Amino acid sequence: MGSFLFITTFILAVSFSVNSCPPSDRAALLAFRAALTEPYLGIFNSWTGSNCCVNWYGVSCDPSTARVADINLRGESEDPIFEKSGRSGYMTGTISPEICKLDRLANLVVADWKAISGEIPACITSLTSLRILDLVGNHLTGEIPAGIGNLQRLTVLNLADNAISGRIPSSIVNLAGLMHLDLSNNQLSGELPSDLGKLTMLSRALLSRNQLTGPIPASISAMNRLADLDLSLNRLSGSIPDQLGKMSVLSTFNVDSNSLSGQIPSNLLSNPGMGILNLSRNGFEGEIPNVFGSNSYFMVLDLSYNNLKGQVPASLSSAKYIGHLDLSHNHLCGSIPLGSPFDHLEASSFANNDCLCGNPLKTC
Ligand SMILES: *[C@@H]1O[C@H](CO)[C@@H](O)[C@H](O)[C@H]1NC(C)=O
Repeated sequence: MGSFLFITTFILAVSFSVNSCPPSDRAALLAFRAALTEPYLGIFNSWTGSNCCVNWYGVSCDPSTARVADINLRGESEDPIFEKSGRSGYMTGTISPEICKLDRLANLVVADWKAISGEIPACITSLTSLRILDLVGNHLTGEIPAGIGNLQRLTVLNLADNAISGRIPSSIVNLAGLMHLDLSNNQLSGELPSDLGKLTMLSRALLSRNQLTGPIPASISAMNRLADLDLSLNRLSGSIPDQLGKMSVLSTFNVDSNSLSGQIPSNLLSNPGMGILNLSRNGFEGEIPNVFGSNSYFMVLDLSYNNLKGQVPASLSSAKYIGHLDLSHNHLCGSIPLGSPFDHLEASSFANNDCLCGNPLKTC
């Protein structure tokens, strides 16, 4: 009996001193929870008891320090709690600045709750252990905190599908380890930082559906891991910097629905890694460079709704593959080349030009 009590006491003592979260972390989590309302799933019902490291839904701790390291709350999830209720997540309220007291937080994911509003607390820039900041799919307003560049360990910054406004802070270029940047579908305005190319670890830069103006920074060509660049549905102007065509791993480049002009850089079209290219709905002019070849492999090549003139380049017929080609709504003229890449294309790919002819349009 004596030894049983001793062991029980010992286990309790160990679990409270080493494995139990500090009362200050627990208090910060409860303050975070208090600013939110989650009416349908009851995910916060598990946030009870003194040890926030154990069985608190979406919370996990560093096992050696028992400090809160992750908050992972996703409104679109396979978790049984969602299946049981048969609906996706919905939450109102705001993200409390009390969360900034969790100064060992590495992952903060509060995603796809649709109606969480208010601003991103500026103090979040003091959470220097953060690696993932994912607040996608809420209704956050205000600006991206100016000090975001302090988060030196950040690898993922996803603020897409909110109502965030203002400029992209210039400090963002200091996020030296950033691999994934998604700011799509907000109300960001102003120009892209001209030194955006300092983000050399970046592999995806998704900035579509904002109100960004000014030029595409030539420095982007220094991002030698960038595979996916989406700047579509903004108000960008100027021409595409020539250097962008030389990027060795860039395979998806979407700048459709902007106010870009000038010629299409020929190396963009001859780049053998380029697989999805959408330049539709801009003011590109001049001829389509005749630079395609047996390395050309396009899932999408959409040049529609521009001011392109001249012929459909003859070299397109030597491309290995063209999945979706759209040259419609330009000022092209002459006969459409023959060849296997064209065999499956429909008239709509060539419609509304000045004087194109040949299969799949009328014979010349
Ligand atoms: C290219 O962009 C245009 C305009 O934003 C869009 O309508 C079109 O669907 C895109 N093309 C492809 C093949 O995705």
